[in-house]
Amino acid sequence: MTQRIAVIGGDGIGPEVVGQALRVLEVVRRRGVDIDVWELPLGAELYLRDGTTFPSELRDEVRQTCGAVLLGAVGDPRVPSGEHAHDILMGMRQGWDLYANVRPVRALTDALVPLRGKSKNDVKIVIFRENTEGQYVGSGRERGRGTPDEIAMSREVHTRRGVERLLRAALQYAHQNNQPLVMTDKSNAIPAQGIWRRVLAELARDFPDVPTEALYVDALAARLVQAPERHGVIAANNLFGDILADLCAALAGGLGLAPSANLHPAVAGHIGLFEPVHGSAPDIAGRGVANPLGAIRSLGMLLQHLGHPAEAERIERAAAEVLRLGRCTADMGGALGTADAGSAFLEVFAQQ
Ligand code: NAD
Ligand code: IPM
Ligand code: MN
Repeated sequence: MTQRIAVIGGDGIGPEVVGQALRVLEVVRRRGVDIDVWELPLGAELYLRDGTTFPSELRDEVRQTCGAVLLGAVGDPRVPSGEHAHDILMGMRQGWDLYANVRPVRALTDALVPLRGKSKNDVKIVIFRENTEGQYVGSGRERGRGTPDEIAMSREVHTRRGVERLLRAALQYAHQNNQPLVMTDKSNAIPAQGIWRRVLAELARDFPDVPTEALYVDALAARLVQAPERHGVIAANNLFGDILADLCAALAGGLGLAPSANLHPAVAGHIGLFEPVHGSAPDIAGRGVANPLGAIRSLGMLLQHLGHPAEAERIERAAAEVLRLGRCTADMGGALGTADAGSAFLEVFAQQ
């Protein structure tokens, strides 16, 4: 049966890195995995031309006809409001209720771990980030802009349903993979976040074999740098998960490598969104130097989601191998541009 995916390159380096992921997908298809690709030209370019962000009929059609979406990145300095980026990204994450943002952090080589005395075996973390509420509900207000009395307000919302389903997904993963779980919040300063501790304490009873801990996010940030090996699964609210994902990506070698999945794990076969953790990197966009591995590994997660775990594993093995060989972009210590790094990947991938 043919499976269908939608692909959105987006802005900045998004199309550059997704282009390389599509070359990898082409090889996978030639090996007999029947996936149809539907490319959507969404992003700042289209928005600036005619105001289109992500029309809801189009989003519905993707939802109904595709098993997954591969996204590069959105965000462009020519659109300071970020309106199109919000509609595209949150249109899928929130619009499709993709409540678990899963960001695995695996150091692929010892040399890429920036911490003194730590090796790749010390960095094996998976972040489960709540992806639909928290500080991202978008309900805020401003008053008196530009005046001395200016006030800017924003709410954060944590529902029992929202917290519980994210923690359950994280606990289930920890249980299946025999890992400890740390839930992180800042309930000492923001009492509303206390719901995370309470719900964790309740749910943890259903997972007696999973060591669980609640840790304030400031303390966790320090401990991640000092002792990454103590961590397996991290469960976090939307904002803290976002920040910790970049921190953890750096522990494993850098943002250019880190993949992610946005899922609704309660329903098997639900559409998922797959994207590198990094953004559109306007500082290097158009120069052909962006690392394509985050996008390629996100394709790996997408293939896993669509039921092709062998291809997903081959992608991970090939990523580790190109890094070991130094056949990679400058952010990973190599000397290749984006397209050459993609070609090197394909060569190694063919041998896996
Ligand atoms: P960023 O992740 O784009 O860049 C941070 C730094 O990492 C930059 O120095 C960049 O050059 C580097 N970097 C990122 N990806 C790289 C890669 N593949 N290879 C080599 N270097 C890489 O974060 P930012 O600068 O804060 O954000 C830029 C724009 O991207 C903003 O508009 C932001 O909102 C958006 N953004 C979008 C997404 C997304 O679409 N999911 C994610 C994060 C940021
Ligand atoms: C990410 C990004 C987004 C987020 C931005 C672009 C809104 O940083 O995917 O990590 O905060 O979720
Ligand atoms: Mn982020």
